[in-house]
Amino acid sequence: MNPDAEAEQFVRAHTRLSTTPLLPELPLHLSDDVVDLWERMTDRAAALGTTVELPYWASSWPGGQAVARYVLDHPDLVVGKRVLDVASGSGLIGIAAARAGAAHVQVNDIDKLCEASALVNAAANGVTVEPLTDDILDATTDADVVVVGDAFYAKGLADRMLPFVRRAARAGALVLVGDPGRAYLPQPRTDWRRVATYRIPVTDLEQGEVKVTGVWRLRARSLPLRAEQQRDAYQPRRARAAGRSVAGRGRANRKP
Ligand SMILES: C[S@@+](CC[C@H](N)C(=O)[O-])C[C@H]1O[C@@H](n2cnc3c(N)ncnc32)[C@H](O)[C@@H]1O
Repeated sequence: MNPDAEAEQFVRAHTRLSTTPLLPELPLHLSDDVVDLWERMTDRAAALGTTVELPYWASSWPGGQAVARYVLDHPDLVVGKRVLDVASGSGLIGIAAARAGAAHVQVNDIDKLCEASALVNAAANGVTVEPLTDDILDATTDADVVVVGDAFYAKGLADRMLPFVRRAARAGALVLVGDPGRAYLPQPRTDWRRVATYRIPVTDLEQGEVKVTGVWRLRARSLPLRAEQQRDAYQPRRARAAGRSVAGRGRANRKP
């Protein structure tokens, strides 16, 4: 079987089409037990000779849900526009943008299973997205709209995401970032304006039952930002209980 078909089949086999309370109109192929799936992915990785990544694609993270909700409720922001969803996971924000009327949507994630997941989810929503699996964070995008959900949970990724989105904003893109207060969300956010806040029920991957999650719009004129980090690093509750650190597992968490 070719690798793309195998990846799509894997996504379909380990998820079910479901919705979240915030996005009842956006069905996605998600897993009910991401930690269990993560453990079962070891077999696949051994067979393919790849590394095991946390299956980010099998959940819709609060930051992504928030931006997807905001885009669906403000279609004027994306209608007829070229949209780039960076660190796209399941592709939910890009798919929301496509459903809201974007002319062209690219979803970018370095995990091949995220590409497969976005394609499977786009098909479930009757829209088309173009996957990009190159690491583009050191490049400049010419997209009209850049959307980012939940990408400030790891220092290595946050340190590269911030300059990427600030370059995009300076080049004229509308940049929307959704985040539930992850450890490496930039502080202070003098060039960010909060445009929405949602209370999002979360799974047992997270601490607590609900995450208060913001959507920010970056101002084009960026002021110098100090990348202060909060001290408490994010780790899923069950991984902590098992004595594992997510920060040590995923490629996403490696310092480049
Ligand atoms: C917490 S998930 C968020 C997924 C989605 N945006 C959401 O909100 O549901 C973070 C994603 O960042 C991706 N990622 C990590 N490093 C990346 C990079 N250098 N370029 C693009 N995506 C990256 C991971 O593979 C993962 O899918």
